[in-house]
Amino acid sequence: MTERTIALVTGANKGIGYEIAAGLGALGWKVGVGARDRERRETAVEKLRAGGVDAFGVPLDVNDDASVAAAAELIAEYAGGLDVLVNNAAITGGMPQTPTTVDPAIVRAAVETNVIGVLRVTNAMLPMLRGSASPRIVNMSSSVGSLTLQTTPGAEVGPISAAYSASKTFLNAVTVQYAKELRDTDILINCGCPGYTATDLNGFQGVRTPQQGAAIAIHLATLPDDGPTGGFFDDSGAVPW
Ligand SMILES: NC(=O)c1ccc[n+]([C@@H]2O[C@H](COP(=O)([O-])OP(=O)(O)OC[C@H]3O[C@@H](n4cnc5c(N)ncnc54)[C@H](OP(=O)(O)O)[C@@H]3O)[C@@H](O)[C@H]2O)c1
Repeated sequence: MTERTIALVTGANKGIGYEIAAGLGALGWKVGVGARDRERRETAVEKLRAGGVDAFGVPLDVNDDASVAAAAELIAEYAGGLDVLVNNAAITGGMPQTPTTVDPAIVRAAVETNVIGVLRVTNAMLPMLRGSASPRIVNMSSSVGSLTLQTTPGAEVGPISAAYSASKTFLNAVTVQYAKELRDTDILINCGCPGYTATDLNGFQGVRTPQQGAAIAIHLATLPDDGPTGGFFDDSGAVPW
């Protein structure tokens, strides 16, 4: 990696995203805190700065074309480029999500944020990433999106979910397609699973801390130039598709 690396973390105002920003900042990187709510964003930036992180706020709603375009402009002007993008922002869409009863609006919302939001942000940031010496893209996925684990008897893969889990399967599939298209570039793009982490997303039921959940993203953000691309990993190694 270059000496001074610039990163953007989406949904960095709380939970795992905040800890990814803190962890990348601890490496001496300049970190854009992507968040849609001004107050939550500014509070996170202040807290990160108080902890010694070179953080800057990036107004960002991943579902909004204009917001994402403005975010790319802000980063170009303020930081002069981008080396690492962590697509962390996501929603469950709301529960229940059993396929036979789910409100289609819930499925649409999950796919909009967790898949199309990632496409929108990634494509807006790509021109800057292409200019980096060691560009990395990390897509925060989940083992609940693993079809192999979903069909393995006894595997713990959360509640039956036609929206959130399926959106992460979709995100994994899209990540593989990006890796194929970008295989002749320096860009490494991978999915990471943080494990079951106590955050707002699950009513703080998770068993890992947000700092533990952030570790895989930090690992994938700092891969060496000969590192993997188009893969799916957690702290223990490869996660089955
Ligand atoms: N927690 C777990 O056990 C777990 C397990 C596997 C995977 N993951 C994945 O890890 C990532 C982080 O999850 P988390 O547990 O830290 O969740 P979280 O605490 O609910 O945080 C989600 C973040 O995404 C942001 N966000 C949602 N929609 C957005 C939008 N349209 N534009 C911009 N930001 C948006 C939220 O912002 P607001 O504050 O404005 O809502 C928040 O900052 C997600 O991709 C999640 O799917 C989590």
